[in-house]
Amino acid sequence: GSQGMGWGDPTMAPYACQRRTPLLHSNQPLTEVLETLAEEASFSGSEGRSLAFTRAASVLKALPGRLSALEELGPLPGIGEHSRRVIQDVLEDGVSVEVERVKLSERYRTMKLFTRIFGVGVRTASRWYQEGLRTLVDLQERNTKLTRQQQAGLRHYEDLNTPVERGEAEFIGQMVQEAVQRFLPGASVTLAGGFRRGKPHGHDIDLLLTHPEAGREAGLLSRVVSWLDSQGLILYQHSQENSFTIHESPEAPGGRDLLDRFERCFSIFRLEVRGGPGAARGWKAVRVDLVVAPVSQFPFALLGWTGSQHFERELRRFAGHERKMVLNSHTLYDTRRNLFLPAASEEEIFQHLGLEYMPPAQRNA
Ligand code: CTP
Ligand code: MN
Ligand code: MN
Repeated sequence: GSQGMGWGDPTMAPYACQRRTPLLHSNQPLTEVLETLAEEASFSGSEGRSLAFTRAASVLKALPGRLSALEELGPLPGIGEHSRRVIQDVLEDGVSVEVERVKLSERYRTMKLFTRIFGVGVRTASRWYQEGLRTLVDLQERNTKLTRQQQAGLRHYEDLNTPVERGEAEFIGQMVQEAVQRFLPGASVTLAGGFRRGKPHGHDIDLLLTHPEAGREAGLLSRVVSWLDSQGLILYQHSQENSFTIHESPEAPGGRDLLDRFERCFSIFRLEVRGGPGAARGWKAVRVDLVVAPVSQFPFALLGWTGSQHFERELRRFAGHERKMVLNSHTLYDTRRNLFLPAASEEEIFQHLGLEYMPPAQRNA
């Protein structure tokens, strides 16, 4: 029925950060095709078109029930012509011919193959495709120039494209916690990313480090990573120093500012395993992101690293357009009052923004 799906319904508020979006929803077949089209658009460099499909998928994820007819959507925000057509095809025929064609196309399949390599983005994958490369063997045989990160990505391709289980994420979190305690007692390790939103598996493990006393966290990461490395637990890592400085008035959001400037480490861990893929050799490669936040920025970092990516993008868009505030993973800045708004918890950030608090499990936009 269409009850509760109109404009007045808070589940259909225009920004994804105003809607409850649980992990499990009733419109999986529809969101899957829309997300395939979003991916295909981003492979072609059409970011705007990609965002339109992502938005449409996100609206469907927040619907209270299974959509059975296009009319039930009514004038829902953010679902364009093209998306409606695809939704109608799937509702009527069970498939979308357009999406099936995309999935079979050589370009889509190759782009998918290449962008699944750690360290390879759309631009690189696209260049390789233009150069006629089609397989992972092509990359090796034609001596394609690869970064150290891409070489590691290729070496561990299969493992890194095998989902990480929650138990594995918790185990590695514990391991990092123990290493952290060796060097800085009292410091904490928090599991963020998809696992914090309740996903049973993910493509990597996102861990946030902090210490309750400001400044104590400085220098922690390199010690922890060196120690883990000396224990043979690290297959690849590259670290970046903190480059964040508080500006008088921060840059407007969007573009490069979506990336934060915390001290961090992109790594591949060597995880001992007994079952599953890699059981024969006794270990499996797992992607781990380690990020260090000073305690005053921790709630912003936690909010920024919990995702989903679309939820974050919408949160920042809402802050900018509706509140004239600049939100990033470090701070929240009010441009009308020219001041930073401190927060001791995620709840306080939502309060500053005048938004109902969304627990992580409802941020699966
Ligand atoms: N993120 C970020 N800066 C990066 C990488 C990621 O701020 N350089 C944020 C993303 O915006 C996202 C969160 O960290 O909100 C987690 O990113 P990611 O691990 O890519 O996605 P997940 O939601 O954890 O999905 P998955 O389970 O596939 O890992
Ligand atoms: Mn993740
Ligand atoms: Mn990550």
